[in-house]
Amino acid sequence: MKPKLVVKNGLVADPLAGKSKVQDIVVENGRIAAVAPGLGEGDPGGRGQEPGPDLIVIDASGKVVLPGLIDAHTHLREPGQEHKEDIASGTAAAAVGGFTTVAAMPNTDPVIDTRAGVEFVLKRAAEAGRVNVLPLGAVTKGQKGAELAEMGDMAEAGAVAFSDDGRPVTGSELMRCALEYVKMLGRPIISHCEDVDLVNEGVMHQGYWSTVLGLRGVPAAAEEVAVARDVILAGLTGSRLHLTHLSTAGSMALLRWAKDRGFPVTADVTPHHLALTDEAVRTLDYDTDTKVNPPLRASEDVEALREAVRSGLVDLIATDHAPHHFDDKDVEYNYAASGISGLETAVAVVVTCLVREGFLDWVGLARMMSLAPARLFGLESKGTLKVGADADLTIIDPEAEWTVDPAAFASKGRNTPFKGMRLRGRVTETIVGGRVVLLGGKLV
Ligand code: DOR
Ligand code: ZN
Repeated sequence: MKPKLVVKNGLVADPLAGKSKVQDIVVENGRIAAVAPGLGEGDPGGRGQEPGPDLIVIDASGKVVLPGLIDAHTHLREPGQEHKEDIASGTAAAAVGGFTTVAAMPNTDPVIDTRAGVEFVLKRAAEAGRVNVLPLGAVTKGQKGAELAEMGDMAEAGAVAFSDDGRPVTGSELMRCALEYVKMLGRPIISHCEDVDLVNEGVMHQGYWSTVLGLRGVPAAAEEVAVARDVILAGLTGSRLHLTHLSTAGSMALLRWAKDRGFPVTADVTPHHLALTDEAVRTLDYDTDTKVNPPLRASEDVEALREAVRSGLVDLIATDHAPHHFDDKDVEYNYAASGISGLETAVAVVVTCLVREGFLDWVGLARMMSLAPARLFGLESKGTLKVGADADLTIIDPEAEWTVDPAAFASKGRNTPFKGMRLRGRVTETIVGGRVVLLGGKLV
């Protein structure tokens, strides 16, 4: 039997109840057994039980307790690119970042586009994962955009959604077919919205700073044209579509348009697009860790994304954790790989830029980083703290101030434009199914 766990005196933010208050949480057999104020004061386990091998007590006074965070967009790179990340290191980074579940993008080598691929990810996650891993399957075979992959088979094996992320599904008829097909499976397509023709070898946002810096630009329209097509197809087919890493003000307007029409569309934004502008490419002096796809955008875009978080227009925050090897980044800006290693900074970036700035409260953070991703993947027993739910918990010290040091990352990917930055808010405990995987900020 697993030991009983009591988390005492934390500010518990339950997104389903829509409120936060100081309470204790009792965990038994990997599930939430009780949530109430002052449970067993001076008698933490109740019935005179003392802390010991059968009872773990965590004092969360002054901290915030959330249902375990779920990242809807993580690149774990296994199989095939283990020099960038693997399931062990990626899920260790997730635990450090407070994520109890991550959805693994299928743009690995080989691409996860068959039942065997999904089974491989699940097997490796069971062997080496410190947190839950949800496999995602590709939409098209080899993510080549020519033929649909065996999505039915993959769904049966446990794929929770489908995505060609890293690249768009270019053919509109193919996207329409894919959407029709997933309707039968009851699973969403996660769309990476990019018109590669309009990108035209651009490497940063097209605007003032690309002109000043002399780098080729990616227009906002390269994303927006693709968003427009995809939401129209979601309306046409009535199929669940999730738009990932939206980055422009125009995309927010299109999302509003689609939602106003009742189209079955949801969307996420990343911490880096909420925190940084394209000016970072200058401030960090062409540092390739600022290179990401979609690119860091103009300040008007960042303002629109923050406003969309505040208003609830955008449904969730996902990291797009994209670890790369030093060599992939230690080249000229034009040749560098795109991506940011984001799991270990996500919470602090969101706390610093959104919670402390009044765009989001703790319940909102729990909604956007736990409940909404749980709903996206149809996970009934996650994203909530109701009795009987999976005992996945994230505990945050909201005041802790720290400096981002990529050398100390659990991830193999040290590629972050936040390096050296002072942030507020640090994950102290991560609990997965009642098992403490991060304690006092250290991996257990
Ligand atoms: O910056 C990115 N990196 N954007 C993507 O869409 C893919 C990702 C990766 O796999 O490295
Ligand atoms: Zn992407």
